[in-house]
This record gives sequence, C-alpha cells and structure tokens, in this order.
Amino acid sequence: MPVIRTLSKVAKQALLNPGCGCQPITVAVRTISFSPRQVTSDASFHSVSFSETDHPKVLITVFRRECFSSSSSCVFKCNFLFHRKRFGNKNVILSDIRKPPSHVFYSGPFIYSDILDYKNLREIVVNNRITWLVHYSALLSAVGEANVSLARDVNITGLHNILDIAAEHGLRLFVPSTIGAFGPTSPRNPTPDLCVQRPRTIYGVSKVHAELMGEYYHHRYGLDFRCLRYPGIISADSQPGGGTTDYAVAIFHDAVKTGKFECNLKPDTRLPMMYIEDCLRATVEMMEAPADTLSMRTYNINAMSFTPEELAQEVQKQLPDLEVTYDIDQVRQAIADSWPMNFDDSNARNDWGWKHDYDLPELVQTMLNYIGSDSRIAQTN
Ligand SMILES: NC(=O)c1ccc[n+]([C@@H]2O[C@H](COP(=O)([O-])OP(=O)(O)OC[C@H]3O[C@@H](n4cnc5c(N)ncnc54)[C@H](O)[C@@H]3O)[C@@H](O)[C@H]2O)c1
Repeated sequence: MPVIRTLSKVAKQALLNPGCGCQPITVAVRTISFSPRQVTSDASFHSVSFSETDHPKVLITVFRRECFSSSSSCVFKCNFLFHRKRFGNKNVILSDIRKPPSHVFYSGPFIYSDILDYKNLREIVVNNRITWLVHYSALLSAVGEANVSLARDVNITGLHNILDIAAEHGLRLFVPSTIGAFGPTSPRNPTPDLCVQRPRTIYGVSKVHAELMGEYYHHRYGLDFRCLRYPGIISADSQPGGGTTDYAVAIFHDAVKTGKFECNLKPDTRLPMMYIEDCLRATVEMMEAPADTLSMRTYNINAMSFTPEELAQEVQKQLPDLEVTYDIDQVRQAIADSWPMNFDDSNARNDWGWKHDYDLPELVQTMLNYIGSDSRIAQTN
C-alpha cells in the first residue's frame, strides 16, 4: 500500500511540524461536544489489515434485495451469509430501520440503525469494534424521484455520516454505485469508468456525490474507500425496491405465477444487468483485493446486457406460453434512456481479476428454478 503509507507519513509529518506552513491535517470528525477534533500524530490513516485468524468485524447496512427477499432459497446465496461463513457468524452484523424477516433475524446479529443518526452509528461501530463497513442503504431511482427530499437525506446526508464514521475509526468502507451515476451526455455503448457523469435523477446525483466524496476522503484522509458501480441486479426477490431495472425481476415472478407479463419499459431498451450471486461475489472480491491492485477506487462491473424483448424470448424458451405486453412508464423509460446500454468493466477485470459467471441463459434458468421451486412450496403449504 505505497500510496497510503506515503499519505500516512505526510500526514504525520504535517502534524509533527505545524510550523511548516501547511494546513494541519484533520479528519472530518463530527463535533461530539463543541469543536471538531484533530487526528493525533499516532493515528492510523489506513484501515487495519487482517491475518488469517484476526477476521474483520463487518457492519452491513442491508442490501434489501438479499435480506428482505420473501424467497428463503435466495438467502443461501446472500452476501452476509458469505461474509459470516468466511469471517464467523458473530463477526458480521446487519442493520436496517425495518424489522427483519425471521430467516435474517435468526441467522446472526441484527441491529436497528438509522444511517441519519450519526451518534447511533458511532455507538455501533465502537461497541462492536467494527473494522469493515458495507453501506447499502439508499433510496433507488424511481422511488427517489417520487420523494426527492427523503432521497437527498438518506443518500447524501446518510452517506456523510457513514464517511465520517469510517474515516474517524479507520474502517474499510464499501459503497455501491450504479449505472444510474451516468446520464444522457455520458457515452452509452460502452460506458467507460472515467467519462462525463451528468445524471438527471436525485439517485444518480447522490451516487456521483458518493463516488467523489469517497475518493476525496481516500486522497485527503487515507480512507480505504471501495466502490463498485453495479448494473441492474437480478435476484429472486419478489419485492423490487423501486429501481428502473425492476422489470427484469418482475418478469420471472409473473411468468411463473400468471403466464403474463406487462413490461413498463420499451422492448428495445438495452441495459447492463447482473445476477445477484455475481454481484455479491464481486463485492467480496473487491473488498478483499490488496490495496496495491486497485488503480482506482470506483470500478464499473458488468455481466450481460439485454433488452426486455431479448429477456422475454429467453424466458419463452422455458415457458413458451408466456404472453408479454408493453405499457410504458414514462418516468422509468426516461431514466433508462439516459443510462448506459453496455458497461465497460475492463479495469475491474485487469486490476483485481473480476469475471462474471452468469450470462443470460444461466440467469434465466437459475431464476426460474428458484421462483418455480418457491411457488411449488407455497402451493404445497
Ligand atoms: N438493486 C439494484 O439493481 C442496484 C443496482 C445498482 C446499485 N444498487 C445499490 O445497492 C444498494 C441497495 O439496493 P437495494 O436494491 O437493496 O435497495 P432497496 O431499496 O431494496 O433497499 C434499501 C434499504 O435501505 C434501507 N434504508 C432506507 N432508509 C434508511 C435509513 N435512514 N437508515 C437505514 N436504512 C435505511 C431500507 O429500509 C432498505 O432496506 C443501494 O445503495 C443501491 O444504490 C442496487
């Protein structure tokens, strides 16, 4: 970690020699009582590294798509279970403002935490000796447009709390970004890591803000910030969270339950997508990647790219009687039309060896297997 070591050295130097004319380096620590605190000269400016026996203690502000799924089978592929298996059950704590379903609650530690409550967050990090923070809580694109001020609070103010906590306590911090962080003036086919980013949703604006703030904290304070721009994530969750790519989840449920699907995007709307198992594996791999393999702090990741028509055709190979109609939601269509059609993730593949497992045929087969078996269980019950 030569960059971080150098930063740490420079920071210590600056603190030890305040007469050098440089600005003293301060971590953006919140006021506990009345004045912002400065970091002491022996403070660590990088996140802790771990030996085989000394596992990270992980706090995950939950990924609803995995935790609040009504599909219990989906849970076997969860990020937090992956982390728990890897680092020990008690070393991975989940948090949300919503009551967890029983399979989540009984699977290991779960804590109430509102990311807008800075002191509560700090208490959790201190009391549990947290070392990694995986921050998923956010309002997604369509929901964000319906409630801009709440999206601004959760996605921007909440992120500020998370960044400050992580910087204060030397945590390794993961924040997901999205294809929604690009806009109509970005190159769309393919979209590279570095290009114009002028999104037109509060969700996109807040994610660009998160990318830039995380990178700024990395350069300014040595925060071990890591960020992946996810494409649309597809899982067996039956309650999509208000995203523009939700049609690609809903089609499977409707196909199995009713044999009919009404799509709210045009048939030729091409968007990058990924099966959740690839997404979760990418996240863990990026979190574990040695810092010196990361030439950037924010990477695109991708698996496949398809249109509603192509997805429907692939589903119809398994369920030939599926009827698909289109009733376009203008808000979601406008959002989708401003997003990347294809995502260039060559930097992630080159730097830390990202490789997806699921293409469209495997995705369709896996989703139908899960949803089909869940619905068979429901019918038996
Ligand atoms: N789902 C996708 O296709 C997709 C794609 C790209 C990026 N992402 C990113 O992944 C993350 C999770 O997405 P998701 O699909 O699970 O979203 P979701 O809407 O399903 O879940 C978000 C969670 O945030 C929680 N939350 C809201 N306000 C909160 C607060 N004040 N304090 C604590 N928790 C709060 C909600 O209770 C919910 O459980 C988001 O950051 C999103 O930007 C998702």
